Amino acid sequence: MAPHHLITSHRVATPDDASERTFSITNTLKLDAKAELDALERGLLAPAASIAPKFFYDALGSTLYNAIVLTPEYYPTRTEAAIFEKFRNEIASVIGTGKQFIDLGSGDSVKAEKWFASLKPSRYVAVDISESAAREALARLAGNVDAPELAGLITDFSSVLDVTPVAQPAATLFFYPGSSIGNFMPDEALWFLKQIRAHCTLPGSGLLIGIDAKKDSARLDAAYDDALGVTSAFNLNTLMNVNRLLGTNFDVRNWQHRGFYNAAMGRIEMHLEAHSAVQVKVRGAVRAFAPGERIHTENSYKYAPEQFRALLVEAGFTEPKLWQDEGKDFNVFYAGISSVG
Ligand SMILES: C[S@@+](CC[C@H](N)C(=O)[O-])C[C@H]1O[C@@H](n2cnc3c(N)ncnc32)[C@H](O)[C@@H]1O
Repeated sequence: MAPHHLITSHRVATPDDASERTFSITNTLKLDAKAELDALERGLLAPAASIAPKFFYDALGSTLYNAIVLTPEYYPTRTEAAIFEKFRNEIASVIGTGKQFIDLGSGDSVKAEKWFASLKPSRYVAVDISESAAREALARLAGNVDAPELAGLITDFSSVLDVTPVAQPAATLFFYPGSSIGNFMPDEALWFLKQIRAHCTLPGSGLLIGIDAKKDSARLDAAYDDALGVTSAFNLNTLMNVNRLLGTNFDVRNWQHRGFYNAAMGRIEMHLEAHSAVQVKVRGAVRAFAPGERIHTENSYKYAPEQFRALLVEAGFTEPKLWQDEGKDFNVFYAGISSVG
């Protein structure tokens, strides 16, 4: 383990107060802070401005995401949860028990926790860019006497996926639910899957992943632009996070949320659109936005099952198995490896 990683230890009393449980969180993100902010600045100053989706997830953004999944329009989370519930035993028997469970973009870890009883993991590693989300989730899990050994890794896996600072040499289940892989462009998604595959070095390792399916535009549009405006608040909150990180002076009131399905590209796009002419201080520069000009904040690619299966195979996984809801709105795949290496 590199000596300069920031490692913090945490102690949590168990519910009966008879004992304490400890877990540690390794933060490799702080090493990259300068590069992160430089890339954020470049994105804002580019002719087609953008903010990477990872900047949604400060403490408020993580909370707003948990509210989005409760809106009536946002079908992916509840559909994935229904697939997991319906097929949990079947999926668990394909995966097998006793593996190291590495949760990519773990958030509140609620989805992962539901697998503990059937998969009986040897340890659980929460991997997230948000230290507050991972710390709160692990502290909650530490109070669950049935939880396995716990660890956290704070990293930005959109730059590189490196779990070696916390992973142990064991058969490992990677868990990447919630269609988060849709945030990558398809070629980046392949690159990311190849990195997961490269970490699957021991027999019995594999990936359990959820990915949203292509469907009717109207349902997709509604899912990313809900009537209550929760997704709008989530999107706008990224400007407040950027103000804090980069010292910019975005006024949220000057911007509006845009979320829609781009059928030609097979993806949801989220943007922030200027109501009127806006000037924003970005470090030493001033970025002028024209009325109607947009900042691109997220893509969410949708995949037909056969498209995603092909991607898993190209990344080096074997015999991906698919589970779907009756309406075929959402895909859950488990993909293993055939041999060591
Ligand atoms: C859409 S939420 C999904 C949370 C949970 N896995 C679920 O399915 O409900 C995405 C999670 O990934 C984390 N995340 C986003 N970008 C990331 C990145 N580049 N590196 C590491 N974690 C990231 C966020 O902080 C957030 O907790």
